[in-house]
Amino acid sequence: MVEKIIVGKGWKDLKKYGPRGTAYIGKHIVGKGEESHLTNPIHMDVTRPHVVLVCGKRGTGKSYTAGVVAEEIYRLPKDIRKNICVLMIDTMGIYWSMKLPNERDADLLKEWGVKPEGIKTNLFVPKGYFDEYKKAGITVDFPFTVSVSELTSEDWAITFGFSMIDEYGILIEQVMERLEEREGNYSIEDIIGEIEKDERSGKKVKEALINRFLAAKEWGIFEKKGTKTEDLLKSGTISILDVSHYMRVSESWSIRAMVVGLLSRKIFKERLAARKVEEYGKVTGQARKTIPMIWIMIDEAHQFIPEKGSTAASGPLLTLVKEGREPGISMLMITQQPNKLRGDALSQADLIISHRLTSKADIEALRSIMQTYMLEDIQDYLNELPKTKGSAIVLDDNLERIYEIQVRPRFSWHAGGSPIILKERSLLEGMET
Ligand SMILES: Nc1ncnc2c1ncn2[C@@H]1O[C@H](COP(=O)(O)OP(=O)(O)OP(=O)(O)O)[C@@H](O)[C@H]1O
Ligand SMILES: [Mg+2]
Repeated sequence: MVEKIIVGKGWKDLKKYGPRGTAYIGKHIVGKGEESHLTNPIHMDVTRPHVVLVCGKRGTGKSYTAGVVAEEIYRLPKDIRKNICVLMIDTMGIYWSMKLPNERDADLLKEWGVKPEGIKTNLFVPKGYFDEYKKAGITVDFPFTVSVSELTSEDWAITFGFSMIDEYGILIEQVMERLEEREGNYSIEDIIGEIEKDERSGKKVKEALINRFLAAKEWGIFEKKGTKTEDLLKSGTISILDVSHYMRVSESWSIRAMVVGLLSRKIFKERLAARKVEEYGKVTGQARKTIPMIWIMIDEAHQFIPEKGSTAASGPLLTLVKEGREPGISMLMITQQPNKLRGDALSQADLIISHRLTSKADIEALRSIMQTYMLEDIQDYLNELPKTKGSAIVLDDNLERIYEIQVRPRFSWHAGGSPIILKERSLLEGMET
């Protein structure tokens, strides 16, 4: 049998567990250019918390690679899978198609000795867009909502582009404080009502805020009661949260950031609590059901944690990246431009899958985070990659190794390249006939 190359495991785990709990992500590329060929399978650990960075130029296979990792987690043996769940933050609206088998690449899959196969996913779509998806013939599983009272005044201020110390930020804070005291669970209408009642602020400020909250209502996501985190994080499941619709709205990134920020805060809190219960269970021998270990996959990560400036998601996501190991949270961040991603987030990556990358600044960004042993090599390795889609280098900080890899073809359908859902409708219809 051909030996497996395992990345992301320390020596101790390797010795103890071998390839158990790993994801088969592709094959090792040996040789250069035309001479190159595929050899040993490469497996990546998914059972310990990791911070994985997937980068590469446009269209080189980043989102596809994330899909491969998700598929592999789904295919883990049941006893391992039950302790893990995946949450894919889908900014482009491309992961809904994972339910369908990848017939498009049937020939390629055959070369790899496997068959097209869809996987079971839980697709969450903002409530306001749920019906639109259904009409487009897409199997959506759950409407997604955010509880208004869980958002802070700072969330709103940052989302609307105000500061906490300008008159807008101050009014938001006052209004929300009053509502919190009085209502507990409140809605956007309640916030608007409270702004209208305010006597201290000027008309201009009030109107500007009311208009923004009215617009926020249109996002079809805010309710008194929000989707429970535990529904998104069911053990052994792949949840996809499609936030792509906001592409059409001008403040699109700030809305997504607000949702992602809130979710990240909640997940961190709940996993911390779960970790305590698990530890307690270990000590007392009474195992209790908690939420599982989480893999959060996030496309266009540099939009949420930009190098310059901040979004409502920057702080909470950075916390996950920096402190997620202890509570069992893994992050897979995808970006076209590692150079534009906050250095703090980048430097936490212990595994990097870099597809082709040509910009000097981006290669420099990678260099800056890898250990000295790799310094000279990255550019050479990248230059030597075959031009095939899905070729990449894998940098493993755990074992200080670097490999060239051809990421395996997907079993499930990848809708990348055509982000707009309606474009894919014809494709879906085509498949049903
Ligand atoms: N490992 C692979 N094997 C076969 N084909 C692949 C592989 N990876 C990517 N592709 C092909 O390349 C296309 C582009 O991949 P993908 O959507 O992942 O690009 P991307 O890097 O995410 O691009 P963008 O920066 O535009 O988001 C896919 O639709 C698929 O057809
Ligand atoms: Mg992509």
